[in-house]
Amino acid sequence: MNRETVDPLPDMPVTPATTTLTLPSEADTARLARAFAAAMRAGDVVLLNGGLAAGKTAFVRAAVAARGVADAVTSPTYTLANIYAGPIVHIDAYRLETPADFADLALEDELERGLAFIEWGAMLAGEFDDYVSLELAMVQGQEQAREARLSSHGPRGAALLAAVLEGVA
Ligand SMILES: Nc1ncnc2c1ncn2[C@@H]1O[C@H](COP(=O)(O)OP(=O)(O)OP(=O)(O)O)[C@@H](O)[C@H]1O
Ligand SMILES: [Mg+2]
Repeated sequence: MNRETVDPLPDMPVTPATTTLTLPSEADTARLARAFAAAMRAGDVVLLNGGLAAGKTAFVRAAVAARGVADAVTSPTYTLANIYAGPIVHIDAYRLETPADFADLALEDELERGLAFIEWGAMLAGEFDDYVSLELAMVQGQEQAREARLSSHGPRGAALLAAVLEGVA
């Protein structure tokens, strides 16, 4: 994986550092997901963004498998949230109109005890003090490749991202 890290200049207002990884194939996406699975602990949140077929669900599937959970992982497009063993909370925020719709899902207990992966999670960023944001993008002319942009929010988000990057180094 190629890595390029952009750190904010010291005298700039706090801007989250963004790390960009190139994932040449789905196996590399799965490897990144395994690094997340190894580093995440109860209460951790990953917000996944990127267009249709960017690989958000593929990433979550690999992370869930890496936690030793055999549950089938599918896009929770209609169910809004799938809860796998662990618990692992898998949310698709695409059809949530407002953050209040998220509160209606009443997942506080699972979120506190478990790990959370939220597809189309950008709209819920304000709901969490700490998270890692993972944005997946297609790479033109390379059907199997994706670009992953990683950034964090809050101290625990930063610690999680650091552990993930150590895991894929
Ligand atoms: N490097 C890669 N990483 C992830 N998926 C890849 C990669 N290369 C090819 N793919 C394929 O791209 C597709 C990704 O589909 P997936 O359902 O994970 O997308 P998604 O981002 O969840 O889309 P949606 O917004 O529709 O939920 C799968 O068919 C997967 O096999
Ligand atoms: Mg999906």
